[in-house]
Amino acid sequence: MTHAVAYRAAILHSLDDPAKVGLEASYAYYPDGVLVVADGRVRDIGAAADVLARQPAELNVVEFNNKLITSGFIDTHVHFPQSEMIASYGEQLLDWLNNYTFPEERKFADPAHSARVAEFFLDQLLRNGTTTAMVFGTVHKASVDAFFQASDKRNMRMIAGKVMMDRHAPDFLLDTPESGYADSKELIERWHNKGRQLYAVTPRFAPTSSPEQLAEAGRLLAEYDGLYMQTHLSENKQEIAWVKSLFPEQKSYLDVYDHFGLLGDRSVFAHAIHLEEPEFDRMGGSNSVAAFCPTSNLFLGSGLFNLPRFEDYEVDVGLGTDVGAGTSFSMLQTISEAYKILQLQQHRLHPLKALYLATLGGARALRLDDKIGNLQVGKEADFIVLDLQATPLIKARIDNTSTLFEQLFVLMMLGDDRAIAETYIYGQRQYRRD
Ligand code: GUN
Ligand code: ZN
Repeated sequence: MTHAVAYRAAILHSLDDPAKVGLEASYAYYPDGVLVVADGRVRDIGAAADVLARQPAELNVVEFNNKLITSGFIDTHVHFPQSEMIASYGEQLLDWLNNYTFPEERKFADPAHSARVAEFFLDQLLRNGTTTAMVFGTVHKASVDAFFQASDKRNMRMIAGKVMMDRHAPDFLLDTPESGYADSKELIERWHNKGRQLYAVTPRFAPTSSPEQLAEAGRLLAEYDGLYMQTHLSENKQEIAWVKSLFPEQKSYLDVYDHFGLLGDRSVFAHAIHLEEPEFDRMGGSNSVAAFCPTSNLFLGSGLFNLPRFEDYEVDVGLGTDVGAGTSFSMLQTISEAYKILQLQQHRLHPLKALYLATLGGARALRLDDKIGNLQVGKEADFIVLDLQATPLIKARIDNTSTLFEQLFVLMMLGDDRAIAETYIYGQRQYRRD
């Protein structure tokens, strides 16, 4: 058993969805709090006076000033191979894929390139306070081996998978139904449930998989327990028209995936912007999940995600950066853009709801809320230390607030990687801002 360490600062964490329990019951806040971590897990949490009274007197206490501890952010949709093509100018989805994305992903045929970018990507997550993500590789098996090697070494809880794509892309990026199945199977055997790693069957999106390949994806999902499925859904109007022409028998875009057995409570659909009513209904009925990717949806001009409608249909939603179509690794920046997307639709995003989405809601969306998502006793100790004085502007603005909600909102609107002072993975500090 390792030595327990206590961290003393303001502590805030999410307890439930404000849409379900109301704002007051949705969080716990300790203005002077202590978080005790031992063996990689939360051993105790609460007001400093209470926790220190019940813990051994020799407890090692690390004290922070003007900091706020919360649980690590969870990014439910991101492409690690697109880390170095973020901010590619001018196009919407389909041209962006052809002109920028596919040539960039070609580089991941080289395992050394994959390994270097995987490390870079994880460094970016840590400096932005993201401790868990659901991640696309490329079509190359080696890209996912490199990714899991890097995340396993850091003991980060990650979900990832090899992209399956066997048509409508350059030859150098295509697999086949057989090879996509066999390569995915090999990766599942090697990585699913290895340490904190989990596997997601990853058909890129309906246009780049033949019906035969989508059927193979469904077969994989049926063969193993606890596998995830990740793909893209109804992101762009031209894309949707294309899917309808490719799959004329199916009732809708979502129905294509449904037909091949790809819906379910571990299936995460990125974007889901232009859904029709029966698709909302079916997402809820199948317990499928949507990933809301605000910076990407604005950058590619894809459209406005309608969060309240997902609540109406009881569809779990997580937040995603969707780098490289997304323009930031920061979940704070992602929240800021989410707020504006809802504003454009006459909706509100309360900072406590945003906190929920970026932490416990993300964990629920990924069915990991028994392990991560907040700092309740027993959970895996993935947490971050936010700096309430990260920049002169943030300091000045926070000095001019009187409530926790205002402070949180300021951090969300103005914060980015500069607001992350430290990031802890399984109780170990893995990032500290200089
Ligand atoms: N649809 C299919 N592939 C992609 C991708 O790489 N990024 C985004 N944003 N949408 C996609
Ligand atoms: Zn994506």
